[in-house]
Amino acid sequence: MQKRLIVLAIAVLSLVAIGCPPKGEGGAATATDGKILVGEYGSFSGTEATFGKSTHEGITMAIDEINAGGGVNGRKIKVFTEDTQSKAEEAANTVTKLISQNNVVAVLGEVASSSSMAAAPVCQSNKVPMISPSSTNPSVTEKGDYIFRMCFIDPYQGEAMANYVTRTLGVKTAAILTDVRSDYSTGLAKFFKATFVKNGGRIVGEQSYAKGDSDFRAQLTSIKPSKPQIIFVPGYYNDIGQIAIQAKDLGINAPLVGGDGWESPKLIEIGGKALEGSFFTTHYHQDDPSDAVRNFVQKYEQRFKYKPDALAALGYDAARLLADAMTRAGTTDGPAVRDALAQTKNFAGVTGVITFGPDRNPIGKKLVVLEVRNGKLALKASVDPVAQAAASAPPAATATSGATATATTAATGS
Ligand code: PHE
Repeated sequence: MQKRLIVLAIAVLSLVAIGCPPKGEGGAATATDGKILVGEYGSFSGTEATFGKSTHEGITMAIDEINAGGGVNGRKIKVFTEDTQSKAEEAANTVTKLISQNNVVAVLGEVASSSSMAAAPVCQSNKVPMISPSSTNPSVTEKGDYIFRMCFIDPYQGEAMANYVTRTLGVKTAAILTDVRSDYSTGLAKFFKATFVKNGGRIVGEQSYAKGDSDFRAQLTSIKPSKPQIIFVPGYYNDIGQIAIQAKDLGINAPLVGGDGWESPKLIEIGGKALEGSFFTTHYHQDDPSDAVRNFVQKYEQRFKYKPDALAALGYDAARLLADAMTRAGTTDGPAVRDALAQTKNFAGVTGVITFGPDRNPIGKKLVVLEVRNGKLALKASVDPVAQAAASAPPAATATSGATATATTAATGS
């Protein structure tokens, strides 16, 4: 009996071995009709569920367009998607699965910096290029030379907001409320604080919470007597809505101020009126008049019946850049695609023209400040480092207009 079982097991194993493609190009081609296999990991459930959904829609739209246009050097792309459940602890597992079971040749994700930081070493050690569409913590791309991102980083975002509130709005005092479970939140708080203080601002209170908490009253109550003009809360949308409601309940009227982690269709749904007048920095505004944004928004809205947020735009850009790099590389080999990505110059994305610096972060990306106004997100200010550089270099008087058309420019320091 046992012998027969063993024989059977061996037979099954050898069948599996024959049927199973060897790792790499040729093998993958047999099993998947020559398709290029790409992995996507994101938060489709849990506290950051809209991050994964929006990013996925942007990626899907990009891949469908690429495939409809003939694919990458004649090969179509197939995407395998894994849910991190909004947990950094899950992120590395999802990427391990994508690489070792699905044989993906490149990975797109994650949104939350802590998740990208947990998964990046897996990509790095397997020589599988990874592009995070939207993780802004500096450490993400420092995990290794196979790790890229499409977005600006938090020192830039924090400095821009600190400059905007001190220089344009004349704010002198702020309290800070940080999510200690998020590398993004603690990092952005630190960068904001450095510039705010450098500009003569005073931090009158510092409190913290852990993502997923539901009661923020103790922290808000201890902030209240110091009467800050603003409360800087670099958290994720799910917590922000609750914090806004509880702050209003406690009679705090200072606006909340934050970063791109606020970006979600759920933000105003959760926080409602309590968020009126609050504002945050992010990557793009859906009413941007540029052709790139208008075309993207139109196509996306036609397909999904609502307008894309920044995450959808960044996901779309990340997927398209990956395909572009593979086309340029002429192969899907990790090291060659990595090199092609590193050499990216003037790639026309929706969120800007992408050129990578030596640290694999894009150079000179635009930033916008959005404010909750009448239950909607309105453009309050924008920063365009490229246009600014052009404007301040007199001989090369080719300032690109348009980018800052509707807003006060919140200049980013130095
Ligand atoms: N920048 C955030 C992080 O690094 C993620 C994020 C980007 C969330 C854009 C919303 C919009 O964690």
